Amino acid sequence: MGTTTFDFSGQVALVTGAARGIGKGSAEAFAEAGARVYVLDLDEAGGETVARDIRKRGGNASFVACDVTEAGRVTTAFDRILAEAERLDILVNSAGGFWKQLSVEETPEEEWDKVVDLNLKSIFLCTRAAIPAFKRQRSGRIVNIGSMAGVSVLQPSSPPYAAAKAGVHSLTRVLAFELGKHGVTANAIAPGTTATERVVAVRSQEQRDMIGKGTLIGRIAEVSDMVGWVLFLASPEAGYLTGQTISVNGGRLMV
Ligand SMILES: NC(=O)c1ccc[n+]([C@@H]2O[C@H](COP(=O)([O-])OP(=O)(O)OC[C@H]3O[C@@H](n4cnc5c(N)ncnc54)[C@H](OP(=O)(O)O)[C@@H]3O)[C@@H](O)[C@H]2O)c1
Repeated sequence: MGTTTFDFSGQVALVTGAARGIGKGSAEAFAEAGARVYVLDLDEAGGETVARDIRKRGGNASFVACDVTEAGRVTTAFDRILAEAERLDILVNSAGGFWKQLSVEETPEEEWDKVVDLNLKSIFLCTRAAIPAFKRQRSGRIVNIGSMAGVSVLQPSSPPYAAAKAGVHSLTRVLAFELGKHGVTANAIAPGTTATERVVAVRSQEQRDMIGKGTLIGRIAEVSDMVGWVLFLASPEAGYLTGQTISVNGGRLMV
């Protein structure tokens, strides 16, 4: 089976959390498809490596260090990118995740705030910083990375993570509602468990196998299973789709 070819030549894509995992896969794929890519991440070494590797392959990428939970840092990063690129076509909000599987009873307040800030506030801050450019251009694509954990509870997770991801899906609809008249779409994907380094660190092999067996495809997802959806939601073909969350979970949960 061949693969779909996308063309984002002349477009500027900014991907948060792009030093690793789904963000990294998306940044690489946008660059491969001709976009000028900004790799935003807290991890300076990892982000620099992603951008450098893209450039080595002939792509156009820059790394910008940014903590996406800090309003001031987000403003500084977006101001710099917009001054340099002079436009922004695609914003992929991928920074997110959790590290501790706790019950509600076990969750300290600081853990709640940290996880909600990373998964939900970050999308508010980054999208707010992108909106003026999108409005000026009368076009833009927002792709948020939500989670199956924000749709239902099928396995131990993290309470603030699940709650924040449900918030991401809701914020996606709010953004679609506000920005449709400005030519901007906002959609999300809700990935099932995906074999990124973080997930391999957080979930045991036994858990990953068990989750994989619960899908109709018989395995957990690879990063490449998510990336195509991210590019599709940013493509011209997806121009009439907005406010939606696409569940990419191998049929584990049919919603
Ligand atoms: N993998 C899955 O199974 C799965 C399933 C459903 C949804 N998702 C969602 O998909 C997205 C990507 O997940 P992933 O597994 O690909 O993540 P990942 O591999 O952990 O990558 C996330 C990246 O974001 C960076 N980051 C963390 N905090 C940040 C901050 N405050 N500011 C800027 N960057 C920050 C991380 O840097 P450090 O490494 O230095 O922390 C890392 O490079 C997340 O939103 C996640 O919730 C993932």
